[in-house]
Amino acid sequence: MSVYTASTTAPVNIATLKYWGKRDKTLNLPTNSSISVTLAQDDLRTLTSVATSKSFSEDQLWLNGKLESLESERTQHCLQDLRNLRAKLESGDSSLPPMSTWKLHIVSENNFPTAAGLASSAAGFAALVVAIAKLYQLPESASEISKIARKGSGSACRSVFGGYVAWEMGSEADGSDSKAVEVAPQSHWPEMKAAILVVSAAKKDTPSTSGMQHTVTTSDLFQQRIHNVVPQRFEEMKKSIQDRDFDLFAELTMRDSNSFHATCLDSYPPIFYMNDTSRQIVKLCHQINEFFNKTIVAYTFDAGPNAVLYYLQENETKLMAFIHQVFQRNSGWESKFSKQDLAAFDSYFAN
Ligand code: ADP
Ligand code: DP6
Ligand code: CO
Repeated sequence: MSVYTASTTAPVNIATLKYWGKRDKTLNLPTNSSISVTLAQDDLRTLTSVATSKSFSEDQLWLNGKLESLESERTQHCLQDLRNLRAKLESGDSSLPPMSTWKLHIVSENNFPTAAGLASSAAGFAALVVAIAKLYQLPESASEISKIARKGSGSACRSVFGGYVAWEMGSEADGSDSKAVEVAPQSHWPEMKAAILVVSAAKKDTPSTSGMQHTVTTSDLFQQRIHNVVPQRFEEMKKSIQDRDFDLFAELTMRDSNSFHATCLDSYPPIFYMNDTSRQIVKLCHQINEFFNKTIVAYTFDAGPNAVLYYLQENETKLMAFIHQVFQRNSGWESKFSKQDLAAFDSYFAN
């Protein structure tokens, strides 16, 4: 009996303007638009292979080598949408094998920590949906496919595109205009680099889905964020990308990470995603920028303690040498870095 297969990889995307809050839980419709940068295909990514055959008796998902439940409503939503689109194709062409009625076997592997605040749900659901769309030979555009990935995990809609991506929140109740769109391809600003500082690879205790629901229902600051902060920031950030204005892009990114984590802290009881090491990294980035009297690095933290740094290629050696030095100086890690410390680093680089 024939088995049909397809594979794909989907990279992680790290939001520079955060999605945090749903106005519709079932459809994953957000309370604000967001912006992200998709990492390169060979960095943090999910590799997903799918197979279908008339002989398969149930849908199955192996995630990182372990059999997982496919019962979740979010996954079922994605599979249902994909099967409906495939059924439409089949009804117009009787030579197509009737895959829409067959079960699926899905094998997926993340090459980075899962559920640790490094956007595994984004790469994971994007890969799952894109792999099945490929298997089914669906003709839909990337933005249409992003709407299906969105139902798996909101942030996943942005990983359907490479480069700089916006998720437009939309206003329709059925989610038909809540989709990802390209702001600019990676080639528009190829000097942009991302570094991940893994503070902890442990699974977070508050998953994003429940964390953001808790914030929506208990934080006052959250209302201020979605109404008075994000709409303007969304436009400014898009422009900073279009203009390749790193200073502005970096400031907006850092401010937005801080604003998102402030709403977590303002939730009641509070949610803590960042830890002491995360906060030291924030401080260090500001000190580096102050030291060089120029913005060379921006930090952002998703729902977890791990830092993502954005910087331009020309500053990579400088920045990495600095970080390396600071991490090596374990004793100094707890303390504030004085101007003298920083000057010492400078003379180190000069030698
Ligand atoms: P993260 O910060 O890593 O995105 P989330 O709490 O948002 O954490 O989501 C983690 C969940 O996403 C996992 O528990 C799992 O259900 C799902 N997930 C992660 N990777 C994959 C994958 N490759 N395929 C399918 N689902 C995945
Ligand atoms: C902090 O997309 O993981 O990373 O839609 O419930 O699956 P669900 O949540 P998820 O939330 C991501 C939150 C974030 C910010 C972002 O990626 O925009
Ligand atoms: Co996630």
